[in-house]
Amino acid sequence: MRRLPPVLLEDGCPRELISLIRTILAACKEISFRVGQGALSGVLGSTLDENIQGETQKKLDVLTNQLLKDILLESGYVKAIASEEEDYTVAGNPDASYIVAFDPLDGSSNTDINSLVGTIFSIMRAPENSDAADERIFMQPGKNQVAAGYVLYGPSTVLALTTGKGTRFFTLDKTHGTFLLTEDFAKVPEETSEFAINASNQRHWQPAMQNYINDLLAGETGPRARNFNMRWIAAMVGDVHRVLCRGGLFTYPTDTKDPNKPNKLRLLYEANPMAMLIEQAGGIASTGTERIMDIQPDAIHQRVAVILGSKNEVETCLNYHK
Ligand code: AHG
Ligand code: MN
Ligand code: MN
Repeated sequence: MRRLPPVLLEDGCPRELISLIRTILAACKEISFRVGQGALSGVLGSTLDENIQGETQKKLDVLTNQLLKDILLESGYVKAIASEEEDYTVAGNPDASYIVAFDPLDGSSNTDINSLVGTIFSIMRAPENSDAADERIFMQPGKNQVAAGYVLYGPSTVLALTTGKGTRFFTLDKTHGTFLLTEDFAKVPEETSEFAINASNQRHWQPAMQNYINDLLAGETGPRARNFNMRWIAAMVGDVHRVLCRGGLFTYPTDTKDPNKPNKLRLLYEANPMAMLIEQAGGIASTGTERIMDIQPDAIHQRVAVILGSKNEVETCLNYHK
């Protein structure tokens, strides 16, 4: 099986970008080990702190953020970082070419129940002559990403990665500490009969999503004339991995539950990297009205509606939004 660096070199991926990706993966290997130790490593449970988004931080949110932040800033490969767990961007090497946005631990509500969690990352180029301390260097649409990926800490530790030449899976060989290529060109099947949504929010959705889901639930006696299955891992990283493996539609739509928070998922370090991985595997990623990777961000923790997955099913869902 092939290791990650030669695979990326063959693609013509710049050496500096490969080094940056390997730096992120070095942190992820340690996270994989810590997560795998579970209660033995004393890292389960919550802290007494909240992040800037008003969410109580899990001990693992803090630990994984610190690991990624330290290793990235020490590496010299990044000009600045943006993280779910950092109020503001953090400046790195002023001469570096790349910036990284990350969700150090997605699905942190799953940590205490030994269920799926992962790390999501998005890499872009810093604009020429930009200031490392200027948050505006992150205000670029997702189509500018040069690489995106996640590491899923499941029964095996799997990296999904794209540098714009398809989406690949690498599996961590824990005996040697290397990521080995296990799926060269992941392809999201165009058709699916599976969807993922937090149905407890149903009464708060907008009419388009209410109608779409009602029609799925009506099954073979409804307008879709077939039955649909539902899955919800409560960690986007787990749900998106399933969609990449066997197709499906994943959505976290706009809702009116909390008027101050109409959307849940964050554009820079959740929606954009997942959108790139899905598009590179032949799927679609939209907000319901526009392509996710076309959105011009105006804040680092900005939230968006997400509808992604199998091409034909996402298109059907988008038709309800027209
Ligand atoms: P995070 O743990 O990084 O805050 O993200 C959790 C997100 C996402 O991964 C998942 O799809 C969603 O929140 C789960 O939301 P519910 O609480 O509605 O299940
Ligand atoms: Mn998350
Ligand atoms: Mn998180």
